[in-house]
Amino acid sequence: MYVNLNGKLVEEKRAAIPITDHGFLYGDAIYETMRTVEGKLWMFDEHIKRLKASAKIVGMKVPYSKKEIREMIEQLLVKNKLKEARVRITLSRGSNKLDFGPAKNPTFLIQPAKIKLPPKELYENGISVITYEIERAIPQIKSASMLPTIMAYQHALKKKAHEALLVDHRGRVTEGSMSNVFFVRKGKVITPKKNILEGTVRNLVIKMAKAKQTTIKKRDLQKLDECFITSTIKGILPVTKINGKNVGNGEVGPITKILMKKL
Ligand code: PDD
Repeated sequence: MYVNLNGKLVEEKRAAIPITDHGFLYGDAIYETMRTVEGKLWMFDEHIKRLKASAKIVGMKVPYSKKEIREMIEQLLVKNKLKEARVRITLSRGSNKLDFGPAKNPTFLIQPAKIKLPPKELYENGISVITYEIERAIPQIKSASMLPTIMAYQHALKKKAHEALLVDHRGRVTEGSMSNVFFVRKGKVITPKKNILEGTVRNLVIKMAKAKQTTIKKRDLQKLDECFITSTIKGILPVTKINGKNVGNGEVGPITKILMKKL
């Protein structure tokens, strides 16, 4: 597999970054994950917009234009003979003399991979999730400092669940470790409002379902009728168990099914 490192095509095995890179040392990096659908980049503009917004918040500059980035990705898809791909872009601040001050030579990496979608049965039967108390720092950005979400996801795997729903220090459900979360309550679609990444698929679903952004407490989860998570890779994936207990009647809910068809 070829990647694009700082504007150059390199074989993945040979791609190297300095050990002083802030992304490696401090998680001082941002990223985006996008995908292709039938060989075409899906929601490319939205991902670049979010990459630029994340860069602005953390004081970095995306070193290539939107057009250049699109060309680099398309070149990689051809070079690697990939049709259905996930594509990760990582931007790290660069290197300096082991301190937190300004850094030089940002690292810009585009990594494509064959897409691995969740198996069909999970869309038919739903997944189980667990809740995990942890918060992401600056949740509105796609930060590469992922310790909290990695801890949450590994905890989910230990409990034989497919995803972890993050819960903040005030008992509010925020999002998944790598997804956003939605619920259905009395026929209405709701989703957490605060301390989340505004996911590209979340934004689509909010429009499609006229979803209300609101506060959802962990203690109220048993009262909800349906649940699903969203992300670029998963699309809409139904959740039928939370912390070992059925959501509604334990089957994929009717509103979730309608939204899955519409997406
Ligand atoms: N993750 N919240 C978090 C913490 C995420 O990491 C993601 C996506 C989302 C959903 O965003 P979107 O709909 O734009 O994919 C929400 C990606 C897939 C990843 O980590 O690779």
